[in-house]
Amino acid sequence: MQFIKDRGFSTPVAEGITARATFDQRRDFLRQLAGGSAGVGMALWSGRQALAQTAAPGKMRALPGARSTVAGAMTMEKSSSYADVTGYNNFYEFGTDKSDPARHAGRLKTQPWSVVVEGEVRKPGTWDIDALLKLSAMEERIYRMRCVEGWSMVIPWVGYSLAELIRRVEPTGNAKYLQFVTLADKAQMPGLRSSVLEWPYVEGLRMDEAMHPLTLLGFGLYGEILPNQNGAPVRLVVPWKYGFKSAKSIVRIRFVEAQPAASWNVALPSEYGFYSNVNPKVDHPRWSQATERRIGDDGLLARKRPTLMFNGYENQVGQLYAGMDLAKYF
Ligand code: MTE
Repeated sequence: MQFIKDRGFSTPVAEGITARATFDQRRDFLRQLAGGSAGVGMALWSGRQALAQTAAPGKMRALPGARSTVAGAMTMEKSSSYADVTGYNNFYEFGTDKSDPARHAGRLKTQPWSVVVEGEVRKPGTWDIDALLKLSAMEERIYRMRCVEGWSMVIPWVGYSLAELIRRVEPTGNAKYLQFVTLADKAQMPGLRSSVLEWPYVEGLRMDEAMHPLTLLGFGLYGEILPNQNGAPVRLVVPWKYGFKSAKSIVRIRFVEAQPAASWNVALPSEYGFYSNVNPKVDHPRWSQATERRIGDDGLLARKRPTLMFNGYENQVGQLYAGMDLAKYF
C-alpha cells in the first residue's frame, strides 16, 4: 500500500480504502492546493476556524519554570495564543487533521508513565515520569517553532536541557546518535488505524545535537504541564529543526552507534532528510521553504515572513554543521 504512504504533509488522509483512480485525482488536487500559496492559506484558514477560541491556560496543573539563561532560549517575539498552540497540532496518532489531536488526545493516559533509557550507556534503566520531572530545575524557554509545512508559532515551553538526562546515564564511546521512540497504543490512539506512517513514531538526533543546551526535554507549556495534544507527559523540542523532529509522548530513548530510523525520513526519504534543519535555501521538493506564515499573527492576505537559517538559531547551532553540505544532508 505504498500509495497510502507517499503523500507526506499538507495532504489530508482519507480513512479506509480509496480506489486508486479516485485517490490519484484527489492527490493531484491536493498537491496543487498545497503547492500554491493561496492553497496553503486556505488550508490554514479552515484549520483555524476549527479552533476553540476561548482556550486559555488554567486547566492543567501548574509547572512553573525559571527564565532560562541558555543563550538564545528566550526569543523576544510575541508568543502564539494558547488556543493556537493547543488547538492547531500535528500528532498523527490522533488523526491527521490539525484539530484532531485537541479533539482526541484527551483519552491518552499519561499517569503512570515511564521512559526506558537503553543502548550505549553505562546506566541504562527505566525512569518514572515523576523522577524525570525532578531530575533538573524547570526552565521557561520561548522558542520559535517552524513546521515543514510552511507555518510557524512561538511557544513558551517548560523543561530542561536533554543534556541533563544524557549526562546522568553516562553514554559510552559508541553512542553516536539517540533514537526517540514514542507511544503506540491502539487502544488509546485512533490514528494508528491509518498506515500514513509506520508506528511507533520515531525520531533521531546526532549526539552533539542532543547535547546542545537548546535541545529541550519538554514537560510543559504556558507554565503548566503539557496538554496531551502537545505530547504529554514528555517530548522533545528542537527549535532549529522542522517541527516533526520534536517527538511527542516519548517512552524510550536509545543510544546507538548508527544513524537511527526517523519516521518521516523512512516514509519519504526524498522529501524529509534525517537532519531536517530549518533552511530557507533548501526547498522541500514540493514547495519552497523560503518563507513562512506565523499562525495567528500573519493574516491570510499578509505577506509571509522570511524563514531564517536554522530558524534564527544559527549563532547557537551553526557550528554543529560546519563543513557539511546542507543540500545533501538536509
Ligand atoms: N510526535 C509524534 N509522536 N507523532 C506525531 O505525529 N508530529 C510532529 C511532532 N511530533 C508528531 C510528533 C510534527 S509534524 C510537528 S509539526 C510537531 O510534533 C508539532 O508539535 P505541536 O503540536 O506541539 O506544535
